[in-house]
Amino acid sequence: MIKKEPNNMPYACNEQLPWIPLISTIGFLILLGYFISLIIWFSNTFFRPPKYLRKHYGSWAIVTGCTDGIGRAFARKLAREGLNLILVSRSPDKLEQLSTELRLATNNRILVHILVLDFSDKDVSGGVREIEEMAWNLDVGVLINNVGITYPAARFFHEVDEEVWTKIVRVNVKGTLRVTRAVLPGMVRRGRGAVVNIGSGAAIVVPSHPLFTIYAATKAFVDQLSRSLHVEYKHHGIDVQCQVPLYIATKMASKVASIESSSVFVPSPEDYAEAAVRHIGYDSRCMPYWPHLVQWFFARLVPDSLLDSWRLSLGLKRRAKTPP
Ligand SMILES: NC(=O)c1ccc[n+]([C@@H]2O[C@H](COP(=O)([O-])OP(=O)(O)OC[C@H]3O[C@@H](n4cnc5c(N)ncnc54)[C@H](OP(=O)(O)O)[C@@H]3O)[C@@H](O)[C@H]2O)c1
Repeated sequence: MIKKEPNNMPYACNEQLPWIPLISTIGFLILLGYFISLIIWFSNTFFRPPKYLRKHYGSWAIVTGCTDGIGRAFARKLAREGLNLILVSRSPDKLEQLSTELRLATNNRILVHILVLDFSDKDVSGGVREIEEMAWNLDVGVLINNVGITYPAARFFHEVDEEVWTKIVRVNVKGTLRVTRAVLPGMVRRGRGAVVNIGSGAAIVVPSHPLFTIYAATKAFVDQLSRSLHVEYKHHGIDVQCQVPLYIATKMASKVASIESSSVFVPSPEDYAEAAVRHIGYDSRCMPYWPHLVQWFFARLVPDSLLDSWRLSLGLKRRAKTPP
């Protein structure tokens, strides 16, 4: 038999009452927080106007690793935006071809310089000096640090030849550092600029990227470099940003993940570049293609240990296809 208080409510109920509004308020505030984040994300993704790059930052852009995949799509998009281009990549024929394509596509309204540079070479000082001079003398406002490579096949860390990982570090880490270092002095002098570094979900969205460990580690470097430079150079008028894509249908994705065509969750490089350019100059880290962000949202709900096991099993399957 439950004893009643004078107001006829049972003891147990009376004792809990003060907590119910408190818990409801906390729950409401948490939901409100999610709701506000969703509204901000929605308006930033679909309604925020892109920056007018030429006016905001300068009339020239540099794109590294620009003769294929994401880099080529960036070059095409920036040409359509009316920016003059400095194209940096390793294959002279492909550079000439792209340069001609872009000038024709814009009726020669833009200027294009090409620079042959293999970032995996031991000594890249000559090419970097040329970038430095151009970035100082021309109104270079946008730098897309896109060049990046990964393993030819999934491998345990101890199976990766020193020659292979040295090249990955030279291209992904030293390449990004050297080009950024070469371009920043001119931007600082002019008091404006945007530096976009292409990171990867491999270092940010998943807790680990087994059997592609060195690649993921170089991309974590790019992420941290970008976030610190963002703070360091903001007051110079320079916006540094790390873009974090998941899979995009390029040669790299075909090689490492057997992705041969685009889909809603795996955009073509052109669709990625379209979204990516809209984000230049805003957050220090962003995931420009919104279906990627949906995948990130769901990945966050999964415990790290499960994601680790899933990535490992994927890595092992890929290694089995091309055993050492
Ligand atoms: N694709 C994805 O799913 C994905 C996902 C996340 C992040 N990313 C990142 O996005 C960036 C671009 O990747 P992608 O998929 O577009 O790659 P991709 O299709 O393999 O294209 C790479 C580009 O870089 C050039 N390049 C490669 N090695 C070079 C070197 N040593 N020196 C100079 N240029 C070199 C290539 O030149 P050639 O034309 O001569 O081969 C090509 O133009 C990379 O940083 C990558 O890590 C890609």
